[in-house]
Parts: sequence; structure tokens; C-alpha cells
Amino acid sequence: WVLFRDEHGQAACIADSCAHRACPISSGTVEAGRAVCPYHGWKYAADGACTDMPSTVFCRNVGVRSLPVGEKDGFVWAWPGDGEPPSELPGFTRPPEEHAVHAEIFVDVPVEHGLLMENLLDLAHAPFTHTSTFARGWPVPDAVKFHAHKLLSGQWDPYPIAMAFQPPCMVLSHIGLAQPGKIERGVTAEQCARHLHQLHVCMPAKRGHTRLLYRMSLDFMPWARHVPFIDQVWKAVAGQVLGEDMVLVLGQQDRMERGIDTWNFPVSYDKLAVRYRRWR
Ligand code: FES
Ligand SMILES: [Fe+2]
Repeated sequence: WVLFRDEHGQAACIADSCAHRACPISSGTVEAGRAVCPYHGWKYAADGACTDMPSTVFCRNVGVRSLPVGEKDGFVWAWPGDGEPPSELPGFTRPPEEHAVHAEIFVDVPVEHGLLMENLLDLAHAPFTHTSTFARGWPVPDAVKFHAHKLLSGQWDPYPIAMAFQPPCMVLSHIGLAQPGKIERGVTAEQCARHLHQLHVCMPAKRGHTRLLYRMSLDFMPWARHVPFIDQVWKAVAGQVLGEDMVLVLGQQDRMERGIDTWNFPVSYDKLAVRYRRWR
């Protein structure tokens, strides 16, 4: 599939295979709201209809498939399902009340999206893996548990972090902070005065690759959004955290490609990731 904006600025999604000779349309350009195939210049409208066939007689009723598309809170949604798309787009991409978005980061990672999802849905690894970043100095708890409120969401214990898997490839985490940057123990996120809210979207990009979208919002420090180059700071922090995970996840991917099961021996704190795996 290829996404572009039509002449009215509306997002459009059409099959990424030219009706002429199957060249990827995504390698081309967009001209006046039409996607242009780079091979012989055939042009496509938002509904997939071919509108131009340069250098030959134009044939009507030629085109490619298109998907219904909607846009909300900075996200473009395409509907590849059968039947009509839902009338209402999901609302969870918007930060909760009183939170403001402080960072939005996009990064391509050379990892299958399921492995990345299972990494994000796991908090027990933090005091072992994230020793140079957010979990520096965290003691290793006697027990880490995930109390599920619903099938795919719940509360971590002893961390004040609520987490939810949002199908098909998103993770929401709501983190209670004692002081800016400090995690409290033995309380729930809701009992904390300050919160950091995260949305991770793991979009499968191509085989073995994920486009990771990260949106971070806070309900304190509103001034921080106006600090010059703050986006660079958040990007560096996010890159460091991801780097700590990548070493491990790439290693898992290597084992997976050699036919080894990455779920050899799940234990109780793996509950959410295992439920995700079953959902998949
Ligand atoms: S393959 Fe696209 S125009 Fe020829
Ligand atoms: Fe991690």
C-alpha cells in the first residue's frame, strides 16, 4: 500500500502496484494530488482510478485498489478489513486529559514488529536492561507482577505503571512519577501526582523491519515544550533506551530466524506479552 495526500489534502491509500506493469507506485512522486508511477508516468487519484496514461490512448476504468482512510489526532488510519470501516476512529492516540504532547519520534528499526511489541509489553526487564537510562539504580524486586484489569490491559506491581495493548500494534503506558523522572514504588499510576504517558506504535514496515512511532506526553512541566532543542534531547533519550533493548531483541531475532522459540519458558510476569502473542 502507498499513502499520499490528494488535491484537497486528504490522506489516501492505494495498492502499491501499478495497474500497468506492477511497478511500486511508492517509488514515484505526488503531483497535484495524484500519485505518479515512476516507470511510465501513469497517475492515480485517491480512489485508485488511473487518470493519466501519457504517450498512449487513455483507457477508462483502469485503476488499483484503494482503502478507506481516516485521520484523527495526527494519525492516518487505513481500513484493510472486509465490510464497512467503523464509523468512529479509535480515540486512544490522544493524550489523556491535562496532558500535553512533549515528544513525537519516528524511527525505523530492523526488528520484526512482534518482537518489539513483546519487548514493550514487558517491564520486568527494566532493572537488568535499562541500567544506563530510566532504570538506573532500580533494585531488582522480589516479584514483578502484572495485574490484568481487562484481557489486554492492567497494572504493573511494584511499579506505578498502567499498560495496555491496543490492537493491532500499539502499546499505551501511563507512568506515575514521584518527582520528575523518579518512579515511586508500591502505588498505582493513578495515586501519583505527576504522569508520563506514552504511546508506542509498532508498524510493520517490511519483512523484519518496524517503523516505531513514539508519542510522549506529560501532565506537568508545561514550559518544557518551549525549551529550545528539547526535541533533540527527547530523541537522544529515547534512542538510548531503545539502544539498550535493541541489542537483546536483535539477538532474539537472530535466534528466531534459526528456528528457536523465543517463548521457551514464559513466567508469570510475561502475562501481557503472552496474551498479545495469543491474540496475534
Ligand atoms: S508500470 Fe507504472 S506506468 Fe508503467
Ligand atoms: Fe526495554
